[in-house]
Parts: sequence; C-alpha cells; structure tokens
Amino acid sequence: MNLTLKIWRQKGPQEKGQMVEYKVTDISEHMSFLEMMDVLNESLVEKNEIPIAFDHDCREGICGMCSLHINGEPHGPDRGITTCQLHMRTFKDGDTIYIEPWRAKAFPVIKDLIVDRMAFERIQQAGGYISVNTSGNTQDANAIPIPKLDADLSMDAAACIGCGACVASCKNSSAMLFVSAKVSQFALLPQGKIEAADRVRNMVKQMDDEGFGNCTNTGACEVECPKGISLENIARMNREYLKASII
Ligand code: SF4
Ligand code: FES
Repeated sequence: MNLTLKIWRQKGPQEKGQMVEYKVTDISEHMSFLEMMDVLNESLVEKNEIPIAFDHDCREGICGMCSLHINGEPHGPDRGITTCQLHMRTFKDGDTIYIEPWRAKAFPVIKDLIVDRMAFERIQQAGGYISVNTSGNTQDANAIPIPKLDADLSMDAAACIGCGACVASCKNSSAMLFVSAKVSQFALLPQGKIEAADRVRNMVKQMDDEGFGNCTNTGACEVECPKGISLENIARMNREYLKASII
C-alpha cells in the first residue's frame, strides 16, 4: 500500500505544533500500525530528519502506553483494541491517514504524538491501592469468600490499562471511566471496603484538581475503550461517592 500520512509535529510543550504530510510506500497489510510508523521513522533517519516521537512499550495491548488519535478516533477505527494492535489491513491503498496526540488539557503534549499522562498516576496515588498488613500475620488470600459475580465485575474493572482513550474521546475530556474503573475494582471486593470512602473522595478530588472535565453521559468513552470498561462503573463510582459524602 502507498499512503499519505498527516501527522502532528510539535518540538516541545511550549512550541506551536502543526500537521505535516508524509508519504509511505510499499506498506504491507500485515504490518501493525506502529510498524508502519517505524518504517516512516527509518526513512526520516536515513534523510537526516528528526523521527516522529510516539509512545509505545509492550505492543501487545497490555501496558497502555500507545496512544494515537487516528482519523479522529483514539486507537483508530477498530473496536476493542489498542493502537499497537491495529493492523494496516484496516486501511486501503491510497488512503490519507490523520495521526494526532490525545487532545486534553490534563494531557499536555510533550513532543509530537507523546502526551504527559502523569495526571493518571497522581489519581492512582491518591487512592488506587489497598493497605495490607505484611507483618507476618497476613491472612490467606482465599480465606474471605467473594461472590463470583463481584469477583468477575472487579476483574472486568481491573482490565483498565490507563491508556487515556476515554479522556481523548470525550468532548469534556472527562476521566470518569478511568477513575471509576480504579474505584470499582476495589469497591466490589471486601479488601477494598475499609478505605472505600477515603479512596473515592481522594481520587475524585485529584481528578478534578488535574483539570479533567465532567461526565455528561455521552458514552463515547465506553465505545472507544480498548478494554471494554463499562459505563456501569461510573454509576458505581457515583454511588460510592454519594455514600462517602454522607458518612
Ligand atoms: S477506561 Fe478504557 S480507555 Fe480509559 S484508561 Fe482505562 S482502558 Fe483506557
Ligand atoms: S504498546 Fe502497550 S498497549 Fe500498546
């Protein structure tokens, strides 16, 4: 395939960015999207040009690092996958593909297609954990019976990889789907109940302090989430927050 790529280039956080056009030729339909980006970068290096900076790590849909906005959709046109799992067979010979970074005030651009997602880390630090006594008297993990449905729902919420596509897809740049997944995975388990009120209060406060917008129930986040995180988690977080506000 021969393709035209229109890619956001930005030298640094304070620099003005712009879309720059590139051509790539002889792209195999079996390549992943990131391999296609590697081909482009190799050709730029050969021409002594600066390669395009983009985030990636596992390239297996696990780490949440890859984060491209492709033709107006986080992680591209396919559903239930990350950018690193997107393949070039999704596109046609002669296509023009627009590639941009996540767009959100709370995710400032560092360079080209890389944004700063430390806001998510700070939200996690505010409450995305449980305190466990590791003094030697630790209770056996299987000693507390947990209903199968609760365990399944908690595991579903824990599938969130923190990629930020929910924020990038939302017209309000809301982080509610991410935060609600992190709250829910603990709220559903007995081990998470002890710190539940502080957790939801602190994580929601940090989310607001970071400048993420409010949720207006458009549901774009659920559609674009590569891990199928359900809007039900937002409803659960709202219930948890209400409970924490009146105790
Ligand atoms: S909720 Fe989905 S889209 Fe949002 S950070 Fe988690 S995995 Fe990514
Ligand atoms: S590079 Fe790890 S999820 Fe895409």
